[in-house]
Amino acid sequence: MSENKFSRRGFLKTLGMTMGAMALEPTYNKVQAATNILERKEGKSIYGGIPLRTLGSGNTAFNVSALGFGVMGMTYNRSQHPDKKQCIRLLHEAVDRGITLFDTAIIYGPLTNEILAGEALSEFHGKINVTTKFGHEVVNGKGTGRQDSRPATIRQYCEESLRRLRTDCIPMFYQHRFDPNTPIEDVAGTICDLMKEGKVLHWGMCEVSPETIRKAHAECPLTAVQSEYHLMHRIVEENGVLDTCKNLGIGFVPYSPLNRGFLGGSINEYTVFDRNNDNRHTLPRFQPEAMRANTRIVNVLQDFGRKRGMTSSQVALGWLLQKEPFIVPIPGTTKLSHLEENLRTLDFDVSTEEWKELELAVAQVPVVGDRYNAEQQKQVGF
Ligand SMILES: NC(=O)c1ccc[n+]([C@@H]2O[C@H](COP(=O)([O-])OP(=O)(O)OC[C@H]3O[C@@H](n4cnc5c(N)ncnc54)[C@H](OP(=O)(O)O)[C@@H]3O)[C@@H](O)[C@H]2O)c1
Repeated sequence: MSENKFSRRGFLKTLGMTMGAMALEPTYNKVQAATNILERKEGKSIYGGIPLRTLGSGNTAFNVSALGFGVMGMTYNRSQHPDKKQCIRLLHEAVDRGITLFDTAIIYGPLTNEILAGEALSEFHGKINVTTKFGHEVVNGKGTGRQDSRPATIRQYCEESLRRLRTDCIPMFYQHRFDPNTPIEDVAGTICDLMKEGKVLHWGMCEVSPETIRKAHAECPLTAVQSEYHLMHRIVEENGVLDTCKNLGIGFVPYSPLNRGFLGGSINEYTVFDRNNDNRHTLPRFQPEAMRANTRIVNVLQDFGRKRGMTSSQVALGWLLQKEPFIVPIPGTTKLSHLEENLRTLDFDVSTEEWKELELAVAQVPVVGDRYNAEQQKQVGF
């Protein structure tokens, strides 16, 4: 990974120089610096060392840690999860390590995920960002399966998200899925009004086409597009979404960057997903036959990683990070060891030629199974 794109070592070097400079400063600063180091040792501070990246550009620019944190699986869709206390502890560990971008949505739970994020992270208001998403209709705490991005609903959902997140401004509000019954101009116009009112700082859209991105951006400049992107699903390279983001100065946030954990190597044809809290059992790519075949792709990542001291998760995340400097993946985890492992991705140097070799090797293995079932597929790509 080239040093000019991001490097934790580079960051630590800068930190060292800053500390050196601090030693020459008046007594107060020395004490302050010592306190920071002490707090860091005790795992309390927010002085973690992750390089930053910028989503969006100009007035829409949003500086965040190069890796974000997907909160979804702590309450929703990823089978069993630790209790609330453990999740809050892990979210604090993530803050301590320098993560400043946390991703949730109204539909996750529904509502439980925003509530958790609010309880765990509102105390870091102004230092980190919890981004959330509207669009899926939720009535009496239950998802209806319909889309509702009418202006009045966006406003209502915004107020409710603000309450659950315990804040007065949402750092980034995404439209989770396109609403075929509400013109995108109306959605963008409503967001613009919410921005003027100070309730939303930036906005984004998920799983939309280049045409929709352009229309929305013309109405109210976008900061980020969030779509599925990883070594087993590279459609955004082919359908113009990534190029459109690049040309318009919009950031890109790949969701499910480990293909819902599969590229981490601990899921296989025998894995049993909790049918009450995991959508993977509904996805063609997560049927036992498909997983058996697709394990060969994980093996390619493991082979690549073995020669470089990397795990397959680090290979998957590193590949995404080197694609473009405006990409910020948001892997989810419920484990401190996985959080550490994923962040360590930022320590490796892998050249462009080596990443190309990896791409070629992965391309030799056909991906078996669609990423979504027919119903879910209907909601993407507008
Ligand atoms: N916009 C959208 O439509 C959309 C859709 C889906 C997701 N998202 C967002 O994207 C975030 C991440 O997506 P995701 O949870 O679907 O997929 P993911 O990040 O690709 O994978 C998460 C899974 O990977 C496992 N994992 C994490 N690090 C690992 C490691 N180092 N080794 C092995 N396994 C590891 C986690 O299990 P452990 O808990 O055991 O670590 C978890 O079950 C979500 O939290 C959500 O915020 C957005």
